[in-house]
Amino acid sequence: MTKKRILVTSALPYANGSIHIGHLVEYIQTDIFVRFLKLIGKNAIYCCADDTHGTPIEINAAKKGVKPEDFIAKFFKEHKRDFDTYHVNFDSYYTTNSPENKRYVKLIYKRLKQKGLIYTKDLELTYCENCTRFLPDRYVRGTCPNCDAQDQYGDVCESCNTAHKTTDLLNPKCSICKQTPVKKTSKHYFFKLSAFSDKLRDWLNKNKELQPEVRNQVLEWINKGLEDWNISRDPPYFGFKIPGEEDKYFYVWLDAPIGYIASTANYCKNKDITAEDYWQKPGSDIIHFIGKDIIYFHLLFWPAVLMGADFNLPRNVLVHGFLTVNKQKMSKSRGTFLTAQEFAQLTKPEFLRFYYAANLARKMSDVDLDLSDFKDRINNELVANVANFFYRVLSYCNKTFESNIIPAEKSFLDSFDYNDIIKDYNRVEFRSVVKKILKISSKGNKYFQDNEPWALIKTDREKTHQIVSNCVNLVKDITILLKPILPIFTAEIENQLNLKELTTKQLKENLGKHKINKAEILIKKIDPIKLKKFDKFADLDLRIAKIDTVEKHPNADKLYVLKLDIGGEEKQIVSGLRDYYEPEQLLGKKIVLVYNLKPAKLKGIKSEGMLLAADTKQGPKLVLAEKSKSGDKVIVSQIKSNPKDQITIENFKKIKLYAKNNQAWYDKKPLKTSVENLIVPGARDKTRII
Ligand code: MSP
Ligand code: ZN
Repeated sequence: MTKKRILVTSALPYANGSIHIGHLVEYIQTDIFVRFLKLIGKNAIYCCADDTHGTPIEINAAKKGVKPEDFIAKFFKEHKRDFDTYHVNFDSYYTTNSPENKRYVKLIYKRLKQKGLIYTKDLELTYCENCTRFLPDRYVRGTCPNCDAQDQYGDVCESCNTAHKTTDLLNPKCSICKQTPVKKTSKHYFFKLSAFSDKLRDWLNKNKELQPEVRNQVLEWINKGLEDWNISRDPPYFGFKIPGEEDKYFYVWLDAPIGYIASTANYCKNKDITAEDYWQKPGSDIIHFIGKDIIYFHLLFWPAVLMGADFNLPRNVLVHGFLTVNKQKMSKSRGTFLTAQEFAQLTKPEFLRFYYAANLARKMSDVDLDLSDFKDRINNELVANVANFFYRVLSYCNKTFESNIIPAEKSFLDSFDYNDIIKDYNRVEFRSVVKKILKISSKGNKYFQDNEPWALIKTDREKTHQIVSNCVNLVKDITILLKPILPIFTAEIENQLNLKELTTKQLKENLGKHKINKAEILIKKIDPIKLKKFDKFADLDLRIAKIDTVEKHPNADKLYVLKLDIGGEEKQIVSGLRDYYEPEQLLGKKIVLVYNLKPAKLKGIKSEGMLLAADTKQGPKLVLAEKSKSGDKVIVSQIKSNPKDQITIENFKKIKLYAKNNQAWYDKKPLKTSVENLIVPGARDKTRII
């Protein structure tokens, strides 16, 4: 008999930004589940992909001046590395911009069309004539037609929470170019979602696996009445073209979930199974893991599309909540918006796996990463309880019995029951799994401690050997149970135990006579995690600029008008240096320009920024760079630059730059470029730089 095929997926991350610790809740949760299924001998695979299409990706690529294909390729590499760092082990990590995905999108669309589930309709939409594009919800802002709140997005008002259309906004503005858009009509393709109300309701009610809170939420939406779904978008768009159309694309949310199928096909390449075995034939289970923000897509649109195209429906969709850090939404300014790589700089990635497991239940409620609790749990539970038990037992066995063990006592092995842990794993109740494993480890620690082998050895060597051998068997069992959560730590323990590729089959199996390897301490207590607070300096965009020309301001006798070269780009600034510097002293100098300062008019002449100078008693002293190239960025170590588009002079003044010992500083750190520290000749004593 062939084993049932199980396909597990996580939602596809957008190829538009870095993986952060919020995303990791989902990928770690799913990875633990799949590793568990494999551990108990199931035929399970884990498929995912980058979600590569849509307006934001097209716009961000254009902003960077790169092709969308190159833009998404960079994130693909980055995402794969991030998942590796956290030991998230996909059987297939693919991309929605693949030939397989295109083929399945076409196939599914064709079937839906043949069944009369697709129709077209003209829509009046918001169009920017300056950008020559239709503006999706997030790309137009204006006044809410309901409550008059200003500067609201095109889809919903954050002030009164009412939904509206972009065309309803009063005084709309294009978010890209700030111009006033117009209304324009365009033909669009609709999927008849409304025709699926009864079928979806049935499916939800029959499906006993769904979390009740999820089922109820979706039933509520159905009862309110479903609207048909617009699956087309106008150019410019990065996506798949609709067959038979020159200039219409499938909406990213149509092709993204089909990416689950394409990724399965990628897994099946060169194997004797196909994606059809998973998606179109009976005898497979499909399980999706998603966050609570995308329920609508996965429990309404997606199952309806699958039903309409005669594909298999998911057996379950597991929904988790959002990550909070110290009980608050992740935030850049609090320093809690951490990318996967940033967090990996702070602590071992496996510790995050342990912490998330210890906090995840089969629930939609949010998961909190409390950094002080994080440290306590790692130190008290993982290090002081589990790792300590392992090391005590194994090192004692090394040194007292030359690493040999004798068969464990049956009564000892029988005093442990792991069935509930297996059940909890199956139900994705990881919090409960961790709690129970820790209890067993505590019991082991107590057994070892109470029997005092170090004392007993003096009177009864054989009994001591029995106790230690019992404990080695328990170490083996706890290791097996922890494998899905801590794959690296447990692999190293397997090595110390001189055992390979343990599975749940070996739970409570007597190791008999066996020789272990040398024990080693693998993990140690950690210090509290210190977050780098977001620094105001990061707002700044400081660049080296060469002074090309110096002219006298026609209307002000204290001012110069300078033309600057910033790595090929030219800017003009007005500067009050005329009483202190002759034009010859300025020409050709490499100064520092506040590149993102809000432009201003000074006595009728435009000034696009300002140069930095120390405000000494002898007058202004320029901040200079000699070896750097014009256009080079000015940095301060340990502060990650994240410049704003524009900064006002008031906000600039709040950032305390200063000169001392003829150098420029911020917060006791020198201002520098990649090749040198910046100098301020003539500024020995501490003075403000402005
Ligand atoms: N591209 C879509 C999914 C398409 S699936 C066919 C998407 N991408 S995402 O990058 O925004 O999110 C990917 C997954 O990570 C989603 O399930 C989302 O809920 C989850 N999370 C993103 N931020 C999160 C937190 N801050 N906390 C927990 N999960 C979060 O949505
Ligand atoms: Zn525009």
